[in-house]
Amino acid sequence: MRDQNMKLIEPTMEYDKQIQAYRQEFLDFGGSMDGCGPLRRCDRTEDWLAQVEALKRPETTPPGMVPSTQYIYIRESDGKMVGVIQIRHYFNDFLEKYGGHIGYSVAPSERRKGYATQMLALVLPKCRKLGIKKLLISCIQGNEGSRKTILKNGGIYESTVYEEAHERYLERYWIDLSEEKGGEEDTGAEAEIDADKVRKSENA
Ligand SMILES: CC(C)(COP(=O)(O)OP(=O)(O)OC[C@H]1O[C@@H](n2cnc3c(N)ncnc32)[C@H](O)[C@@H]1OP(=O)(O)O)[C@@H](O)C(=O)NCCC(=O)NCCS
Repeated sequence: MRDQNMKLIEPTMEYDKQIQAYRQEFLDFGGSMDGCGPLRRCDRTEDWLAQVEALKRPETTPPGMVPSTQYIYIRESDGKMVGVIQIRHYFNDFLEKYGGHIGYSVAPSERRKGYATQMLALVLPKCRKLGIKKLLISCIQGNEGSRKTILKNGGIYESTVYEEAHERYLERYWIDLSEEKGGEEDTGAEAEIDADKVRKSENA
């Protein structure tokens, strides 16, 4: 399954059906729809895209939120949207303690195929381009899939914190994005990225 070409792109109405199918899969199977903001509540893709667009720039970001960039991960062979990932450009108090820079999820039927690991690898150069030098990702204690995804992308465990509002423990991990660490160069937000290339560079 891992040898298909994938593309990480910003969402548009062109992907309306895929976006709603992704949302529906979570509504049917349950689970946390992380890394896509209010998609769960948006049965009209336009409404979700309007919020995604507003969050791109500080001037249009609603109070209490921080600017962020949204990506969807598309499998080219069948056009299916298999995952989402979001970069928060900087911290507010909540993100600094609990949320971190990144949120992501993979469709329930597409898990354990390496997609989360690939998506995270593909957004690291984009984070670097945004000026993020040290990337914080937090993961609910016991979420083995997310923990491994972070570790496989160079995450270093820092500490575990208790988030009272959700009565849960969160593990905090940092990924060093400083220049000397090298890594893939970003080819642009809209660029189609061959996940194969990323894997090859990971294995190099
Ligand atoms: C966490 C999540 C994104 C993982 O996505 P995924 O595409 O299945 O992850 P990958 O296939 O890249 O797997 C990464 C590693 O974790 C392992 N893994 C994945 N799910 C696992 C699970 N439920 N239990 C144990 N290991 C798991 C994989 O086997 C792989 O390790 P390996 O290479 O040693 O085999 C997905 O389960 C999800 O969307 N969960 C709900 C939302 C969420 O928790 N988001 C993260 C918020 S921080």
